[in-house]
Amino acid sequence: MVGVIDFGSQYTQLIARRVREMNVYSEIFLPNIKIETLKEKDIKAIILSGGPGHIQKGIYKFDERIFDGSFYVLGICYGMQLISEFFSGKVEEGKKREYGKTIFYPDRKEEIFNNLKEKTIVWMSHWDIVKKTGKNFKIIGRTEISPITAIRDKNKKIYGLQFHPEVTHTEEGKKIISNFLFKICKLEPTWNYGIILEKIKKEIKEKVGDEKIICGLSGGVDSSTLSLILQDVCKEKSLSIFVDNGLLRKGEKEKIVKWFQKKVNLKYIDAGEIFLKQLKNVADPEKKRKIIGNTFIKIFEKEAKEFGAKFLAQGTLYPDVIESIPAFGGPTARIKTHHNVGGLPEKLKFSLVEPFRFLFKDEVRKIAKEINIPDFIINRHPFPGPGLAVRIIGSVNKHLLEILGEADTIVEDEIKKASLYNSMWQAFAVLLPIKTVGVMGDKRTYENVIAIRVVKSTDGMTADWAKISYKVLDRISTRIVNEVRGVNRVVYDITSKPPATIEWE
Ligand code: XMP
Repeated sequence: MVGVIDFGSQYTQLIARRVREMNVYSEIFLPNIKIETLKEKDIKAIILSGGPGHIQKGIYKFDERIFDGSFYVLGICYGMQLISEFFSGKVEEGKKREYGKTIFYPDRKEEIFNNLKEKTIVWMSHWDIVKKTGKNFKIIGRTEISPITAIRDKNKKIYGLQFHPEVTHTEEGKKIISNFLFKICKLEPTWNYGIILEKIKKEIKEKVGDEKIICGLSGGVDSSTLSLILQDVCKEKSLSIFVDNGLLRKGEKEKIVKWFQKKVNLKYIDAGEIFLKQLKNVADPEKKRKIIGNTFIKIFEKEAKEFGAKFLAQGTLYPDVIESIPAFGGPTARIKTHHNVGGLPEKLKFSLVEPFRFLFKDEVRKIAKEINIPDFIINRHPFPGPGLAVRIIGSVNKHLLEILGEADTIVEDEIKKASLYNSMWQAFAVLLPIKTVGVMGDKRTYENVIAIRVVKSTDGMTADWAKISYKVLDRISTRIVNEVRGVNRVVYDITSKPPATIEWE
């Protein structure tokens, strides 16, 4: 296994993913992780992430024994600077930021650069530079600007790269990571989805034993996969609960309930009125998220009591966990309270089972395929737990939900008709809390504005706004204004993540 130590880089999760894509299991740790824990987890190699900090302004506290020779270490960007500083080299604040694609000249005799081109494009994003390498370190690569762009120690155990091999802009990044894992650390690519599935089942069995367990089923790929696994492991002792919170996409509940009632022990709860009552006149996004999270929990607590369950299973994913941990102020720190993590009350009446908390969404999709979940669920665009409530900016009511629901259906329909659905991460409508003037049938109108959000992404952590054709946008706009009463203007969101997030709240 590989341990990734997170110094606050926006790319930390990408590093972990790249390693897993090569069939080696990896996990992310905070800098204060102790080497005893790393050893207990059978970690052979450590990757130090980049980060927004400056070495000169103080090094994050970390267990310095990671450099005692028991592990292979690869430092990326800030990680390389940390290595250099630790081994008495010199790191300086650069005068200019080196950012973007850069030509890199690797020393191709080095194993880590095995099979690389003589000149290769890498992605840089740093201010500080290593001026002098640490003791017993060799320079193994340079760019025009930075004579010290890659280093290694004399024992060939500790490596440093100033650029980011984990991002796709580094053209031979995967090769470099693969060389590090297999040629240098000599790890075996033994990790696969069959193994994860068995691990998950074993974990559930051990934790739940003969007790009863409930699971919130939303119809998304995560909770659907979880619900089927629980049914398989716990049989009649598991109950999947589909809560209709009144904040769902049109036609969603009918489809989900129809498919799942044949597969799992299912209970449908109509709680639309309860959620709307709780949300009345609440405009603050974080408050809305917390209220929704708490209302879900209350319902589940009641259902758990009735069913006699001691456990609640949730399809929480790794990014939810990482984004909800208030780490230490880097970009990985808290951005939004995802309703299934941060929204939980302090004291729960049951224990949580979250078997996917170390998985990324595309990994859950692969498990879903393994257990034959149909494509209409696997390929369904992600939908946030707080549902349409975070797509109505400001306070929520039935009328606005109606408007948004209709507009959203049109967006999905047109995106599907244009054969764009499967290549987009998400495509949806957002209802804005303003009215604008329009003219329809010679009459002045004063109605709502709908924003369309279509993004491309691989994991939701970063996203690009989709450059879909004007024709498709035109069809969406025309249909919404003509078919949805109460809307007279449609705008398109052309912001990527970062700096925006995918959802508007
Ligand atoms: P943001 O808006 O943070 O969203 O860029 C990233 C991805 O996460 C989804 N999302 C959520 N999913 N509970 C969830 O299960 C939530 O509270 C939540 N908030 C956002 C969002 O749709 C996007 O795919």
